[in-house]
Amino acid sequence: VRIVENEMNGKLASQEACVGVRVNPLLGSGAIETLSVSNARSKFGMPLPDVETRERLVGYFVKYSWLRGLHVHVGSQGCGMVMLAAGATYVVDLADEIDDRCGAKRISTIDIGGGLPSNYGSESMGGFSFSDYVAALRKGCPRLFDTKRRVVTEFGRAIQSKIGWVAAEIEYVKNVPNVANKADFPQKTLVTHAGADLFMRTCYSPESFPVRIEAFRCDRGSSPCVFAAKDEAVLKYDIAGPLCFGGDKIGLGIELSQHLKEGDFVVVLDSGANCLSLWSHHCSRVPPPVFAYSRTKDNAIEIQLVKETSSSLRHTLDFWK
Ligand SMILES: Cc1ncc(COP(=O)(O)O)c(C=O)c1O
Repeated sequence: VRIVENEMNGKLASQEACVGVRVNPLLGSGAIETLSVSNARSKFGMPLPDVETRERLVGYFVKYSWLRGLHVHVGSQGCGMVMLAAGATYVVDLADEIDDRCGAKRISTIDIGGGLPSNYGSESMGGFSFSDYVAALRKGCPRLFDTKRRVVTEFGRAIQSKIGWVAAEIEYVKNVPNVANKADFPQKTLVTHAGADLFMRTCYSPESFPVRIEAFRCDRGSSPCVFAAKDEAVLKYDIAGPLCFGGDKIGLGIELSQHLKEGDFVVVLDSGANCLSLWSHHCSRVPPPVFAYSRTKDNAIEIQLVKETSSSLRHTLDFWK
């Protein structure tokens, strides 16, 4: 708060600025520890169960009239709507307390963050809809809906993940020698161009961040690629990426058509969120191009290149300068 005040050199008081503070009600962890930000060791927000911190926060609002917002984001994927609604209730109560202490309607905006999950296991949204969330908020935090304050949300994966997918060419198909004679062993490894540089969470923490993988067979120079349905005879594959370490695998023992060969494609679904944004420079690879597509009125597919890949070595080297 002091930094904002100094930066603005006292000008905020005379402006219609709305600056908010992120608070942390410390509600605990969700199902995925690394996405949990409301536990005692969280680095985010002012931890308000701490009485001294809470008093300090309220004191800021009393002192600075340009402080008008409160923000809470209790976590992502695996936090459940009841927990999200508890976070909202916490900031609504706090907003009312701050208004009382300021003797004015000070809090004009409440930002309840993101946190709604995406379903990485199937095509469906995963047993929830945005209207379910509204219903959970109406039940758990009805006062959020009175019209005296603006409510802001920050949904990430619930909106983004299902609208993106990654296609990666199969560079090599390798047999896996089942030397230990284990029953549940893959038969082949598909070495592709999608690895831990793009699917960082999946490769380093596969139990928490599994992805759905499909395959398409592609005969060069002829018709378009065709979907390799899983009801044809299948093999178990490990799906590996291009990086130089053993854990560079986005799928382990995945069942896909037995006919897959070099030049075919694997497609990783639900990858519109936390994928390209986590791109790493491991092995100095260049990021992939990004295409957007939509259906036209006459039912054709229109494709647009929205982000080119830089194939130049110069671009890669520049990063290391
Ligand atoms: C402050 C904040 N808001 C929103 C989000 C988006 O989260 P989600 O993808 O769970 O909706 C995040 C994710 O890290 C965040 O840190």
